[in-house]
Amino acid sequence: MANAYTDRKLSARYPTDLAAWKGLAQHYREDMRERTLRQLFARDGKRVDRYSLTANDLTLDYSKTHVNSRTRKLLAQLARQAGVAAAIEAMFAGERINKTEGRSVLHVALRAKISDTVALETPGVPEVWEVLTRIESFVEGVQSGAIKGSTGKRLTDIVNIGIGGSDLGPVMASRALRPYWKDGMRFHSVSNVDGTQLSDLKAELDPETTLFVICSKTFTTQETMANAQAARAWVIDKLDELAVQYHFVAASTNHEAMDEFGIRSDYRFGFWDWVGGRYSLWSAIGLPLAIAVGFEHFTAFLDGAHAMDEHFRTAPPERNLPMLMGMIGIWHRNVWDYPTHAILPYDQRLSRFAAHFQQVDMESNGKRVTRDGAPVDWATGPVIWGEPGTNGQHAFYQLLHQGTTVVPADLIGFIEPAADLDGQHDMLVGNLLAQAEALAFGKTASEVAASGVPAEQVPHRTFPGNRPSSVILAPSLTPAVLGQLVALYEHKVFTQGAIWGINSFDQWGVELGKALATTIIDELTSATPPDLTHDESTNALIRRYRQARHRP
Ligand code: F6P
Repeated sequence: MANAYTDRKLSARYPTDLAAWKGLAQHYREDMRERTLRQLFARDGKRVDRYSLTANDLTLDYSKTHVNSRTRKLLAQLARQAGVAAAIEAMFAGERINKTEGRSVLHVALRAKISDTVALETPGVPEVWEVLTRIESFVEGVQSGAIKGSTGKRLTDIVNIGIGGSDLGPVMASRALRPYWKDGMRFHSVSNVDGTQLSDLKAELDPETTLFVICSKTFTTQETMANAQAARAWVIDKLDELAVQYHFVAASTNHEAMDEFGIRSDYRFGFWDWVGGRYSLWSAIGLPLAIAVGFEHFTAFLDGAHAMDEHFRTAPPERNLPMLMGMIGIWHRNVWDYPTHAILPYDQRLSRFAAHFQQVDMESNGKRVTRDGAPVDWATGPVIWGEPGTNGQHAFYQLLHQGTTVVPADLIGFIEPAADLDGQHDMLVGNLLAQAEALAFGKTASEVAASGVPAEQVPHRTFPGNRPSSVILAPSLTPAVLGQLVALYEHKVFTQGAIWGINSFDQWGVELGKALATTIIDELTSATPPDLTHDESTNALIRRYRQARHRP
């Protein structure tokens, strides 16, 4: 089945050839380049109403970006001309839009509802519900104590062993939903091949009450397998060989490898090649999250994402939250030439949110060829980074306010406090609003001088302002709101990839380093001097390491 998106003619079309792309460049040159946010606000008293949008529980105020009605019109035209709606339909219909791996992209099916007609047409949905039902009974078994450790004790410490999408998603969501953790349940994670992470954690754990969840789509990833084997050896050492069957669960698509590891059949939860690693949190990779927060909260999280999926599928570009965010990102990246984008959640529980979307965005859209393999001559994904406010304010905001690189930012906040420290919550939100205001409007030299600052200090204490940011506000950080927020950013990334004409769902760029590391690890550890054929620098560093480690 082909539609406009997979049809070769459209996919071979470059975004730079689209009338709206050219229109945006012209609009920038003629209307916007010299226009400041102060001017935009002064000219339009209804700016906030005009440039705010609510979908489900999320409100986006993008009035503090350089967008006017013409910009928005052109951005919507760009989405239409680039075929974003057709791309969405292709994804939902299970077309193999991940061409280089020959795979469908159906993480949306993981959160579809049985009552939806679209779900019935979405391939994969029946299998999804089958695994979800098994997850539900496993989660309830752990929580009720029916599923125990090998010595009969309750399992209270859940350790996620995974990396990349098999770590960042579960870790981000578990931290975000900390208030929903079941009584007595604790969540931990191990990802790095650096063994110190697991050894530090082991010091805190009792093997009798620990459940390791090995999360790996492939079950071959070096880091995850090294940590899983080390955890297995620890369990055997502290308990016995049989205990492996009680203390290890796995989420993977590789049944053979799970067999080999000794994961029993009722402790393994499958998923499918059409779930990309960085979009896998919604699949069995969410199992550790579901155990920590309970199945009811896990399904509320899925439902939240589903609500955003529905909005993304059905709302026109001008009123489509993920599309708007994606298109404003394109405006910033391709027209204003801003190389990075910051995600700044004002909620400490979202401490890994930016890290998760650093992977989702940069692994998806860090591409240099089109879907058809032609080199792109337009910028693709920006560098994504960020930390929670207010911590970031005391670290890198100096550059955001006065540096020479303009960094568009999303500031994310919640109306209701997650903790019972109401006063501190007001301080948190006050800081968020203050930062967005300072970025946009700054403080001119004459305002600084008028406040009595000595003349020689005025340049140092002047804030140029005119730095774009968007504010995302939600009522509170519940599982459903988190689901909406995560799906919002996933679809933002999708929109941008569709407009840039790239494959957002492969990740060949991580392969070369992995392959070289395999060779180099052998060379670092061989008992006899290795025959080194790398460049001079790499050879010298290998020799230096071997020498320092007293290897011949
Ligand atoms: O680094 C590449 C990558 O394949 C990511 O896309 C993925 O999330 C991660 O490695 C982990 O892969 P797996 O789940 O197969 O262990």
